[in-house]
Amino acid sequence: MTVTSSNLETQLTELQQTVQQEIAAADRLDRIEEIRVGYLGKKGQLSKILGGMGKLDASDRPRIGKLANEVKEAVQTDLDNKRNDLQSAAIQAQLEAETLDVTMPAVVRSQGRRHPLNSTIDRILDIFVGLGYTVATGPEIETDYYNFEALNTPPDHPARDMQDTFYLPGDRLLRTHTSSVQIRYMEQHEPPIRIVAPGQVYRRDTVDSTHSAVFHQIELLAIDKGLTFTDLKGTVRQFVRQIFGDVEVRFRPSYFPFTEPSAEVDVKWKGNWLEVLGCGTVDPNVLKAVGYDPEVYTGFAAGLGVERFAMVLHQMDDIRRLYASDLRFLRQF
Ligand code: DAH
Repeated sequence: MTVTSSNLETQLTELQQTVQQEIAAADRLDRIEEIRVGYLGKKGQLSKILGGMGKLDASDRPRIGKLANEVKEAVQTDLDNKRNDLQSAAIQAQLEAETLDVTMPAVVRSQGRRHPLNSTIDRILDIFVGLGYTVATGPEIETDYYNFEALNTPPDHPARDMQDTFYLPGDRLLRTHTSSVQIRYMEQHEPPIRIVAPGQVYRRDTVDSTHSAVFHQIELLAIDKGLTFTDLKGTVRQFVRQIFGDVEVRFRPSYFPFTEPSAEVDVKWKGNWLEVLGCGTVDPNVLKAVGYDPEVYTGFAAGLGVERFAMVLHQMDDIRRLYASDLRFLRQF
């Protein structure tokens, strides 16, 4: 084929058109590079066309050379522009993919909370700590001595009946009340004493809506010179007012081996008398058991069931809910 200047001119113009179409159609960055190598590279289309320049008339060469440069620059510019466009489109797409939608519903993380039994214990302890009492604790596995004997409970007392107590091998048993903490604390301390002792206790009760074989008590003990039943009444009234509000309170004569006289305390709650605790003046025999002189020291004690308080304060109908670990129930508190 003879190489003429018009021939080359046409080829150059056509090449420019073809490349422009390809650039316009390119949708990926590596395609841009392919196009550049294919047309402007050393072995590319443009070099091939210009290979025919040597056969041109010398007078035509500058014009065709100039046209070739123009085509080359135009193609290069188109490639650069397209590369920029594709790059910014890629960045834009990435930004959009990473956008946070602040209107989306949040991931709800569940939060733990106090068990109603623990919050009831804390509430009661707080009241007594506010009255100057110290929190004390004792073991749940006890001996007959601490649970009964030292608490003036003779061997034939009904509370010692096999029905009520879980006995363990040897002389041991599961404490049936927190009153055992009274003895342990007094053995270790001299009066004056003001303690409040929370803890788990165990009884061989048949489980139903108001009974559990394992439950919680809080024990109160005050020993000093000159303490009387009147101090007990004042303390109990103060406590009842703080936990139940301005309710009627009634002291009913009762019997406990470790107190004399003894009483049970009722409060008027939603129209009915509700028994809330047992109490009394510490029996002289209990003071003697720990080496205190009953002629010098007197005191009062009280014991209450935590489950009863939790159920009344939260209007619960069944004690077993407190041990079922049912989150649908527990989340209400
Ligand atoms: N320990 C008794 C019980 O479990 C409760 C009690 C009554 C404790 C009178 C006391 C008290 O300290 O004085 O039923």
